[in-house]
Amino acid sequence: MCGIVGIIGDEAAAPLLLDALKRLEYRGYDSAGIATVDEAGALARCRASGKLRNLERRLGAEPLTGTTGIGHTRWATHGAPTEDNAHPHTADGVAVVHNGIIENFRALRTMLAANGATFHSETDTETIAHLLAQHLARGEDVKTALLNTLGALEGAYALAFAFAGRPDLLAAARVGSPLAIGLAEDCVMIGSDAIALAPFCDEIIYLEDGDLALVGRDGVSIYDRNGEIQSRPAMPVPMEVSVAEKGNFRHFMAKEIHEQPEVLTHTLSHYIDAASGELRADNVPIDFASVRRVSITACGTAYYAGLVARYWFESLAGLPVDLDVASEFRYRSQVLAPDELALFVSQSGETADTLACLRKCKEAGQQLAAVVNVRTSTMAREAGIVLPTLAGVEIGVASTKAFVCQLATLAAVALKAGVDRGTISPDRARTLVGELLEAPRLVAEAIRLEAVLQRTARRIAPATTALYIGRGPSFAIALEGALKLKELSYIHAEGYAAGELKHGPIALVDDNVPVIVVVPHDEFFAKTVSNMEEVAARGGRIIALTDRAGAAALGDALEEVVVMPDAPAFIAPIVSAVPMQLIAYHTAVLNGTDVDQPRNLAKSVTVE
Ligand code: F6R
Repeated sequence: MCGIVGIIGDEAAAPLLLDALKRLEYRGYDSAGIATVDEAGALARCRASGKLRNLERRLGAEPLTGTTGIGHTRWATHGAPTEDNAHPHTADGVAVVHNGIIENFRALRTMLAANGATFHSETDTETIAHLLAQHLARGEDVKTALLNTLGALEGAYALAFAFAGRPDLLAAARVGSPLAIGLAEDCVMIGSDAIALAPFCDEIIYLEDGDLALVGRDGVSIYDRNGEIQSRPAMPVPMEVSVAEKGNFRHFMAKEIHEQPEVLTHTLSHYIDAASGELRADNVPIDFASVRRVSITACGTAYYAGLVARYWFESLAGLPVDLDVASEFRYRSQVLAPDELALFVSQSGETADTLACLRKCKEAGQQLAAVVNVRTSTMAREAGIVLPTLAGVEIGVASTKAFVCQLATLAAVALKAGVDRGTISPDRARTLVGELLEAPRLVAEAIRLEAVLQRTARRIAPATTALYIGRGPSFAIALEGALKLKELSYIHAEGYAAGELKHGPIALVDDNVPVIVVVPHDEFFAKTVSNMEEVAARGGRIIALTDRAGAAALGDALEEVVVMPDAPAFIAPIVSAVPMQLIAYHTAVLNGTDVDQPRNLAKSVTVE
């Protein structure tokens, strides 16, 4: 999603802004721009559609001077990704960059146009520049004009402003979308996240919802919606974000797939004491004995982690589970009872829909727990209980290591639920904990199948449609496999419950359609094999992912059988997630798509 940077310091701002924007590329974008204010107070901007190299080329030809400026990578919402729609937007000496959506922008635009404003873009953001310019033109001081402008905006935003004639000042504000201020000896910065700020700053201040920050060369003053001064803690830059580099890998996604055994170990050690084999109950501060129902809400890949967890909560703890994608949950008229646990799963902890659901459940007085990877995120701050995944910074837009860490976390939480509710015996709990601790080793084994899966990818790459099927928790993994393939390689892919195929989708099957079957030798094996036979009878090209026992039972009649590591049924979904990632990754590489920043996608979806 859009990236925001700002800097006020002693050195030329434009090259620093460009460097910081490069660190935000991972969020996904389709145009970019920079505005600076020079020492004489002149405001100038440079924008370009497409990748940052286009902006860099422009800046080479027409450099921007000044040590104060703001920059932006735009992920188009209102209007195509053209140069005219790229940020910063300006009006009468005000420049603004924006992440989010201003919902009442049409009404504002009509009102501003009636007052004489001329618009040069289709964006909602340009209304903010005009609104602020009109307040300033009335003689309001900058702080008052900003507060009045912000007060008129409906929707979600993170904003940074620069002002002609004020090389000593930037402003930043947020509601809904995250924004941080970075502090260094020789500059103060604004950034969408710590990753943009890390190499330049020593400390970071995370703005709270409703904050307005006036940023000067010597520091920052933060005000609430009423203009009252606020104090926000400055925290050291998290080490992990400083080292967000690709290393020897061609893509961040490849690096992140290979990091999985290590980050799984970190995550598991937060929830399990490996020496004693005991769950660290203190790190899951939920008394499941008094929970009547669990609702799990998330988006995309995180939702599929929730789908696996539903099987775990039901089978281990006998708990009823409601599962919803956040964009649906937030507008349903469901009954939210106080004795339910509302569980939210999110890598970023900033996804707008999931956050809105968290707030809805908070208002209903429910107990809230957030499974998040970014511990400084809004969800982590607003949920009563934080269940961290310790995957480290995930840069590839397609979630990989965060997903397996979400699974590991949810598996540990479901085990704790079973123990609390007495639905699993201490012995059984110990066995399952032991199995969960095997996950990093088995995931490492699955990664070693890379060369085999590269060959599988060669079979899939020419296809225009692929189907993924599975039963039980493998159904969730099939859905995740299809999502990974379509988002990375742009091949149309659908995941189905294996038993559902004959109710419609089997009509798609012919000898051009690979059907990837996730079929470990578990309680569902025989049923899934029947569904495979239905596919084979219609000429479908089956690629079965199974384990040794499964491979022996399948024999050699199939086009391709990939033998995954033998994993206990409990943790099999964690292990079988890896081939899904590697197939999608290598198919995308073969098809030449942008693996780390697939088209149209954003890493942290902070708009509805
Ligand atoms: C797909 C993917 C997305 C995210 C989704 C939720 O590979 O990464 O589907 O899972 O946008 O994002 P978070 O987890 O940040 O809430």
